[in-house]
Amino acid sequence: MICIKVGLVQFRPELFQVKRNVERALQLIENKKARLFVFPELSFTGYTFKTKKEVEEVSEIVSDKNDCGYSIQVFRDFAMKNQTNVVFGFVEKDGEKFYNSSILIKHDGRYKVYRKMHLFYEEKLFFEPGNTGFWVDEIEGVKLGLAICFDWIFPESFRTLALKGAQIIAHSTNLVMPYCQEANKIRSLENRIFIITANRWGEEKNGQKINKFTGMSQITNPQGEVIVRFPKRGDLVEIVDVDPSEALKKSINDYNDLFEDRRVDFYCC
Ligand code: ACM
Repeated sequence: MICIKVGLVQFRPELFQVKRNVERALQLIENKKARLFVFPELSFTGYTFKTKKEVEEVSEIVSDKNDCGYSIQVFRDFAMKNQTNVVFGFVEKDGEKFYNSSILIKHDGRYKVYRKMHLFYEEKLFFEPGNTGFWVDEIEGVKLGLAICFDWIFPESFRTLALKGAQIIAHSTNLVMPYCQEANKIRSLENRIFIITANRWGEEKNGQKINKFTGMSQITNPQGEVIVRFPKRGDLVEIVDVDPSEALKKSINDYNDLFEDRRVDFYCC
């Protein structure tokens, strides 16, 4: 059994205060030792947008050059200095387009971006639907996939990642409905994978608009068990040992295998 230490981070940013939020987030994890930290969706910008201008003002370009966004630069430095890997959600700007994205920054400074495929509610007013597809990358010899919040309600999202070999899914969320935490036990069980659901908490107001986030960040294992779940409120971090080799076993008994037994000819696309 070779475990990997993963850091589950529950966080409430102040709306549009990116620098302050990044500083607070760094303080939260600065003395913690993990090989992977997972933060919520739109971790340092907040979520409750009223206009595209607000979206643009907190957006970040992803690049290797000096024009790279602030949170990406800071966490790239953090990942390299601490030889760790970090996943967090951010507003990505690409030309005139904006994406609700999540980035994996690796310990050597390399990175990869996932753009949210399933936009929720008024996100459709501000963001383009993701076009990166679901990809899987490797950290510490472990296959990792990324997903963002509402992706959970489409079983195809996590199934696709699992079929591509993901052992762990870093699921960054700003959950407002109460179902995901319970549903992800089944998503973990039906795919035999770990799901790290890093959620935000508390209320966020922007004029008349208000969102209430559910907290209860959690990690579920391939047996469908919750191995850690946070309370509804509070900026919290916990380092948890997970054994990713558990996610390689897709066999249920001598006769059944979760992936080989699928009847793909009979499923709808
Ligand atoms: C959500 O997808 N942020 C609910």
